[in-house]
Formats: sequence, structure tokens, C-alpha cells
Amino acid sequence: MKAVVIDRFGGTQNLRLADVPLPQPGPGQVRVHVAFAGVNPADWKDMEGLVAGFYEVSFPHILGFDAAGVVDAVGPGVSGFAPGDPVFTTSDHGDGLAGSWAEYLLVSAPRLALVPAGLDLASAAAVPIAALTANQALLAPQRGNLQAGQRVLIHGASGGVGSFAVQLAALAGARVATTCSAANLAYVGELGSELALDYRDPDFPQRLRDWSGEGLDLIVDAVGGDTLPERLQLLRRGGRLVSIATLVADGDVAAETAQARSMGREKIYAIMDADRAGEELAALGARIAAGELRLPPVQVIDLQDAVNAVELVRSGHVRGKLVLRVCGDGF
Ligand SMILES: NC(=O)c1ccc[n+]([C@@H]2O[C@H](COP(=O)([O-])OP(=O)(O)OC[C@H]3O[C@@H](n4cnc5c(N)ncnc54)[C@H](OP(=O)(O)O)[C@@H]3O)[C@@H](O)[C@H]2O)c1
Repeated sequence: MKAVVIDRFGGTQNLRLADVPLPQPGPGQVRVHVAFAGVNPADWKDMEGLVAGFYEVSFPHILGFDAAGVVDAVGPGVSGFAPGDPVFTTSDHGDGLAGSWAEYLLVSAPRLALVPAGLDLASAAAVPIAALTANQALLAPQRGNLQAGQRVLIHGASGGVGSFAVQLAALAGARVATTCSAANLAYVGELGSELALDYRDPDFPQRLRDWSGEGLDLIVDAVGGDTLPERLQLLRRGGRLVSIATLVADGDVAAETAQARSMGREKIYAIMDADRAGEELAALGARIAAGELRLPPVQVIDLQDAVNAVELVRSGHVRGKLVLRVCGDGF
């Protein structure tokens, strides 16, 4: 099968379209014929070896953290999925297995969900990593635990994670403020942001303070590093800062967690948990199919142009999502 691989860590010059063996599903695994694969910031970090400490890597290394396609074969012990089913999923790449930028992907069955009627496969491939990350960061009790009526800031609201987070927060009954660049202010407003602020405006923290009164209940930081000034001070006492781990610019996690605690706030680092996320993904897909949750703009790029996709996502300024056309939807 064809796959986008690297033989060493480094820049996009190392990406190549290779012929690699067709993987055989083992117990509990499903082989998916990949129609479209998601493009995520984790891909360039993976390519450069910046996240290699998190899982075993063997070369040639197939990139890709999520996908949509059709079930091709199921391994022993798998129930609920059969050849021909349209599915979307995170890959097992973060556990050291092959990624999704390939014609076929082996994935653990509990990660998979059926694509609901009405959702095309290119759109479905844009969903898993971004929507699951947003959903868990906002709503999981040990993370954002967002409640109706609370005031939340989504920092980095126009990207993949942010586009879902703004909507999910508004749907949960929260009042939503956002940051993004000036060009995306109207876009995040359409997603449900009550107060949209340009992060290049030096007054934006003050405008947040004016809006939030006693302080924000929750901040979901989808950018990281030092891009959000005064973040702990923007929270009310008892408020939470959920930092979606960038895995490359997370600072001194222990020190910042302790600093937040000393100020009566909580700082929580969130890494998406996808091991058994199939049901959560199915629920998100149902909300999309029902028109409750809208898809961000999805740009489709051919697998042969993976270099372009990686460079775009590495720029850090994609509105919505990029997906790679692997086999396309002409099954
Ligand atoms: N640990 C995990 O489990 C996990 C899972 C998913 C994602 N992540 C991480 O979460 C981050 C976001 O992922 P993503 O998929 O949403 O990325 P993305 O689609 O590339 O979006 C990035 C967004 O950030 C905005 N942005 C850039 N600089 C900003 C700043 N200084 N202030 C506010 N917004 C800024 C950009 O908006 P403009 O274009 O308007 O500038 C862009 O829309 C990445 O670091 C990713 O690796 C981690």
C-alpha cells in the first residue's frame, strides 16, 4: 500500500510516498481503507521528532493521527464493525503504531465510530482529534468541567480545536469569549463567541477583565507557550486554566501547576484520551449530522502534496481543518 513516511526525523524534505506492506488486523483491531486523513499540528512535531519521547518510533514511520474511511477487515474478537462500514477514528499512532497517512490503517476497535448518515468522509476526517480534544478539555469533570452560565475563554479559537471548542461551550450554555487574529473575528462570532478579541491588540486582557466581572470560570488554551498574558489573573478564584498540551512549548508544568494552586486557581494540562473514545466520537458525529454542531471549513489536499499540508499546519494559522485525500470517497 502507499503511505507517507519518513526515514529520519527532520524537515519536510524527508517526507516521501512509499510502498509499504499491507498490515493485517490482529485481535481487537480493524483495518480501515482510508478515504481522507486528518492533518494536525502533531504531524509536524512527529515529523521533526519533537514528540518522539512519547512513543516508540521505528522507520519507515507513517505519519497521521486521525482518518475517515471504510472498514476493510476486522480482526478476531471485534464486534460492531463489519467490512463496508463508513468509520472515523483517531489512529493508534500515539501508542507507537503506524499512522493514518496511508491507504490502510490498523486501529483498535474502541477508538472507532460509524460515520453518521449525511456526513461525508472528507468532513468526517476533520473531526476526531480536534473535536475530541475540545470536548474533553471543556467538559470532562477533571478538566474544564464547564457548567451552563459560566464564562469561558477559548484562546486560539479559529483553528481545529478552537472551532469545535467555541461551539461546544456555547451549546453547553456557557458565555464564550475568544481570541484569534483580526481576520477571524467574524468567523468565531458565527461559531457562538459573544466577545471575540484580536490577540495582537495589547488591550485584550483588559477587555476580558471588563467582560468577565469577577473573573473567568474557565480558560481553554489551545495555543500554549506565553501567548496568553496574565492568564491566571484572568481567572476568578477557583477558576481553571486547561492548557491543551502542545508537547513542545509547555514550560515547567510542575512549577506552573503549583503557582496556580498558590493563587487559588487550577492549571490542568490536557492530553486527549482516545483509547476508548469511539462512543464519544459517535456522539459528536451525531450532533454534526443533526446540524447542532457545525463543521469548520475543511480544505482537502492530495496525499501527494503532504509537504504543503505540513507546511500549512506548521504555520499555525489555518482556519478550520486540513485533510489529506488518501483514496478519496470513490469506494
Ligand atoms: N495534547 C493533545 O492531546 C492535543 C490534541 C490536539 C491538539 N493539540 C495541540 O493544540 C494546539 C492547537 O491545535 P489545533 O489543531 O487547533 O491547531 P490549528 O488548527 O493549527 O490552530 C491554530 C490556531 O491558533 C491560532 N493562533 C495562533 N497564534 C495565536 C495567538 N498568539 N493567540 C491566539 N490564537 C493564536 C490561529 O489563529 P489565527 O489564524 O487567527 O492566527 C489558528 O487558528 C496545537 O499545539 C496542537 O498540537 C494537542
